[in-house]
Amino acid sequence: GLQRRYSNLDQLEADAKHLLTPQAYGYYASGSDDQWTLRENKEALQRYRLLPRMLVDVSNVDTSTTLLGQHLASPILFAPMAQQRLCHPEGELAMARAAAASGLPYILSTMATSSIQEVSDAVAAPSAAGGAAEGLAWDPNLWFQIYVLKRRDVTEMMVNEVTRLGYKALVVTVDAPRLGNREADERNRYSLPPHLSLKNLELITKAAATTEGVATDGSKFGRHFSDLFDQQLTWDFIPWLKQASPLPVLLKGILSPDDARRAVELGVDGIILSNHGGRQLNFAPAAVDMLPSVVAAVGGRVPLLVDGAITRGTDVIKCLALGASAVLVGRPLLWALTLGGQRGVEEAVEMLRYELELSMALLGVQNVEQISSDFVIPPRGGHL
Ligand code: FNR
Repeated sequence: GLQRRYSNLDQLEADAKHLLTPQAYGYYASGSDDQWTLRENKEALQRYRLLPRMLVDVSNVDTSTTLLGQHLASPILFAPMAQQRLCHPEGELAMARAAAASGLPYILSTMATSSIQEVSDAVAAPSAAGGAAEGLAWDPNLWFQIYVLKRRDVTEMMVNEVTRLGYKALVVTVDAPRLGNREADERNRYSLPPHLSLKNLELITKAAATTEGVATDGSKFGRHFSDLFDQQLTWDFIPWLKQASPLPVLLKGILSPDDARRAVELGVDGIILSNHGGRQLNFAPAAVDMLPSVVAAVGGRVPLLVDGAITRGTDVIKCLALGASAVLVGRPLLWALTLGGQRGVEEAVEMLRYELELSMALLGVQNVEQISSDFVIPPRGGHL
């Protein structure tokens, strides 16, 4: 298993790279332009320090938490990521099963290579191909990530479908009116391999007047996505979505405190601070660095989630200490899926959860609620 071969999540990428085509690896790993933001995500986390407290009874450390009324085994969610079948034949299905086995939410991407229905079926029972590892409870919790399309009717069909199938939350990604400039994809003339398709978009390719397929060749890929996305999308979408579905709505890709405040005033149920893994606007700040001012703007009215380069238990603790309720993990799960399929992802998640538990004990907290700003020291010269 993964746990015998690797000591931590940072070690997975190098080996996964060897198993992937240069095209697939480039698509997964890349940031935009010269990748300053991609590097900054990692470096920003490392600038915070943790201040432990001693002589606390830590014989029982509990990593579980509650988010939007849902029970999570730890404050970790599976970040929405497109095209998970690029690295494993079962792609999203294996990933979603690993999340269910781990008691964590799985956020399905609009740009998935499996359909909303297929993923729902895949987690319906643990007996589906490759059940959970022993000792893990089966707790399916599917969320759906929305890229709002020009074809608003298709977006509405997706929303109706996920609501009907019992998905538990909607995540609207707002930082991608167009796709960022990923130079590796241009160089590799990246396109989706012909045996795969973006299942949730088949509705459009079937129905729309466009003759162009979704998986266009090489460098046109990003531009084609941009053709599908509604670049005229503005804040008035939020009230529309709130009335279109009873599910909680979270916005993903917010970085500014003013945007966060505006989102809350429009009734969103949660905010995911994110720069999209450094794949959209280069020189956007690390989400973690924006947490303190967004916390001040939002004032506890809705939960804040954060992502970007989270690979360590101490990374999770830093985000929580800075005011996040939970974190999203992205690429490390793709590397784990590449290396070990569903079970590999379960093991990777357990490595992270165990690190979190151990670090909480060493920090001197018994549960997630006790992690506060008292435990974090800001970057030198900075303040919270
Ligand atoms: C993403 N991300 C993303 N986000 C989203 O809202 N919808 C999507 O379809 C995708 N697709 C996607 C594909 C790939 C290959 C990557 C690496 C990322 C962004 C993702 O949800 C998350 O914000 C980042 O990946 C940050 O986390 P990591 O990768 O730094 O842990």
